[in-house]
Amino acid sequence: MKLLGVSGGLSRKTLIAIKKALDSAKRYDNTVETEAISLNEYDIQFCDARDPNKYEGDARLVIDKFVETDALLLGTPMYRGTYTGLLKNMFDLIPNDALLGKPVGMIATGGSDHHYLALEHEMKPLLGFFYVHVIPGSVYANNSHYSESDLVDEGILEQLDQLGRAIVNFARIIPDDKLSIVGPLGPSIQRKSLKKPG
Ligand SMILES: Cc1cc2nc3c(=O)[nH]c(=O)nc-3n(C[C@H](O)[C@H](O)[C@H](O)COP(=O)(O)O)c2cc1C
Repeated sequence: MKLLGVSGGLSRKTLIAIKKALDSAKRYDNTVETEAISLNEYDIQFCDARDPNKYEGDARLVIDKFVETDALLLGTPMYRGTYTGLLKNMFDLIPNDALLGKPVGMIATGGSDHHYLALEHEMKPLLGFFYVHVIPGSVYANNSHYSESDLVDEGILEQLDQLGRAIVNFARIIPDDKLSIVGPLGPSIQRKSLKKPG
């Protein structure tokens, strides 16, 4: 099972949180292949509405990571009360069926807890477009949960541990035929996909 952690952060707090949850998943089941990436470390162009198969370079590399993973831990800092533009661009780039039927865990960081519900009201609708299964219960860390160089708040660490275990448990019960575990697909303009969902 592949578990990809993706940070839409421009700095490091969100990536640190994602890595803690991935570490937990790996501790829970050492057969899980984990990988953490931060989108700002890649030279990803803006989506220009071309067929997702036609991107090259870093955009191609990261699109493929989304397509190939079995489960996703998605993290973003709050920017203006929502996920970052960097993250949104990535979701404009990936094929419509890149995440279909896959479990996704949500993580956010913010200056304060002011925008806690943005995961439910902003990120969840974005994920809904992709027919994913969002793990109920997310993790939201604020600046006070970090030391100079690490995430140190015991409560948040426990939550990340729980999320890491939950996504492994969820991914284990996902069948190969992912279309069998989603409801009817809504209206959409046909875009080419990299592979048939399955
Ligand atoms: C442009 C910008 C907008 C921000 N907007 C918010 C916000 O609306 N709410 C909030 O709680 N924090 C906000 N912050 C603070 C970041 O979310 C916070 O510092 C976060 O932990 C940074 O994560 P990172 O280190 O992964 O980039 C903002 C920061 C920047 C740079």
